[in-house]
Amino acid sequence: MGDIVFSVRNLKKSYKTGDVEVQALRGVDLALYKSEMAVLLGPSGSGKSTLLNIIGGLDRATSGEVYFGSENLTDYSEWQLTRFRRSHVGFVFQFYNLIPSLTAYENVALVTEIAKHPLDPKDALEMVGLKERMHHFPAQLSGGEQQRVAIARAVVKRPDVLLCDEPTGALDSKTGVLVLEVLDRINAEYGTTTAVITHNAGIRNIAHRVFSFHDGRIVEAAVNETRMKPSEISW
Ligand SMILES: Nc1ncnc2c1ncn2[C@@H]1O[C@H](COP(=O)(O)OP(=O)(O)OP(=O)(O)O)[C@@H](O)[C@H]1O
Ligand SMILES: [Mg+2]
Repeated sequence: MGDIVFSVRNLKKSYKTGDVEVQALRGVDLALYKSEMAVLLGPSGSGKSTLLNIIGGLDRATSGEVYFGSENLTDYSEWQLTRFRRSHVGFVFQFYNLIPSLTAYENVALVTEIAKHPLDPKDALEMVGLKERMHHFPAQLSGGEQQRVAIARAVVKRPDVLLCDEPTGALDSKTGVLVLEVLDRINAEYGTTTAVITHNAGIRNIAHRVFSFHDGRIVEAAVNETRMKPSEISW
């Protein structure tokens, strides 16, 4: 295994709503290595999104520590977290969150205005197989195509990590495979450390390592000896 990108120590997160306290994370320890493809599995409510949002700097832990390299994100101010996200993290969500009034190209190009060493938006769209569709608006693209635009938008700034929360959750299996192929290619070609949350157990087969969540904890971390291509998995 190579360098550690994220290391998480005894991470806890509780949400308090009125008198009700929900413990979303109950002590998570985790190391993510450079260039690895990690798949996060577990039942609804087990804390997957909470963990992803905290390591991505979108949310804060109640206690415990998150290191990105040697930087301790736990100590960061809001502004430092914003800067961290901007320079290091690409997010992909279940619903693509594209701006409807902008073309695919414009949605991707918007990000390059604030990035330090961005790719050419055309190259990012080519990488996801949509160069020919770059002047189309989101409404003129299928769900799978919109998700690939969202991935191009996430990778155009050349992030160190790509955090994907149910990226195929709204797609059928054929379209889902195309999206996973894009994530797999980016991971292989750019060495982008990638974490993918999914409810689909078949997707575990594309990972280098699989983390299983249960009730706010990681209960298993398994190395995949034989990785499959996205086109080989069964849904
Ligand atoms: N903002 C919030 N306020 C209160 N409770 C929350 C909040 N966000 C998450 N939770 C609770 O924390 C727990 C973990 O939620 P989380 O979204 O991390 O689960 P998940 O594993 O991603 O589930 P799913 O597979 O359904 O997306 C759940 O019980 C959830 O209700
Ligand atoms: Mg979730």
